[in-house]
Amino acid sequence: MTGHQGGTAHTQGHDHTDLDWNVLGPHLEQGAELSGPVHRQAAEWMRERTGRAVRRILDVGSGPGVVSCLLAQLFPEAEVVAVDGTEELLERTRDRAARRGLTDRVTTRYAELPGDFASVGEADLIWSSKTVHHLGDQRGAVRELARLVRPGGVLALAEGGLPLNCLPYNAGLGRPGLMARLEVVNREAFTAMREALPDSVETVDDWRAMLTEAGLDGATSRTFLLDLPAPLDTPPRRWLQAELGHRCGAAADRLAGDDLVALDRLIDPDDPAGIMRRSDVFVLSAQTVHSAVRTG
Ligand SMILES: C[S@@+](CC[C@H](N)C(=O)[O-])C[C@H]1O[C@@H](n2cnc3c(N)ncnc32)[C@H](O)[C@@H]1O
Repeated sequence: MTGHQGGTAHTQGHDHTDLDWNVLGPHLEQGAELSGPVHRQAAEWMRERTGRAVRRILDVGSGPGVVSCLLAQLFPEAEVVAVDGTEELLERTRDRAARRGLTDRVTTRYAELPGDFASVGEADLIWSSKTVHHLGDQRGAVRELARLVRPGGVLALAEGGLPLNCLPYNAGLGRPGLMARLEVVNREAFTAMREALPDSVETVDDWRAMLTEAGLDGATSRTFLLDLPAPLDTPPRRWLQAELGHRCGAAADRLAGDDLVALDRLIDPDDPAGIMRRSDVFVLSAQTVHSAVRTG
């Protein structure tokens, strides 16, 4: 789970804003692994929606390739092309595919979007998670993606949902409601990130309308819950600790001093009130997927 729509805050990097996807690689991979149940359910839904044999799948903005490999496993007849603009993440994808014996069906393609859309080829299923919101013209990007969908094929965009929650409202650290305030400042940072993108266009995030305007049919949204209740195992705790660290770093200048102190305590591995040691920490969020088909 990454990106401001329920995930990693923005630090720095290749989309000319302030993100460093390469550095975020291991964190992106762990987050996507934690979201495995969400991705599996979404993929099952995609399988129901496709009106044709799925031979070629594009995972656009594939990051470390967790979903690319999952799709290859769930669609055994298909080749999957992981498309991304960060070479180190594509390398991570190739390593992951090799570990799973999927090298012959999961390949990678470097693409700087939106410029390289036309070069990635057509597909029966196009999955793009938390990536279109990193492109200045979201509506234009959805149009480009829709053009690549073969007749009977599906375009699925994982965008939006519910913010990550991980603590009770009163967490016994500073003022109650810390996570809600962190979400507000992260949203402000997200808006600033979007405004700074090349060719940024202010768009209403009506993803179903964008899919329909792009010439696809039956635009529908479904939301999938990620619910890891307390007590959490160590891997999700580690991921959460890193996630809060990234979010705090991205929003430090927007947070009140007492909230920064509380967040510092939360990410301190030795603090009994911190994420790594407290008993009440959980992961609760939801990912919305918007999909539509090409009937023509
Ligand atoms: C938030 S991550 C999402 C990764 C993965 N889809 C997931 O849901 O975990 C966004 C991904 O989009 C890629 N990306 C962002 N801007 C891009 C651009 N302009 N061209 C190509 N890839 C881009 C990044 O390298 C990163 O892997």
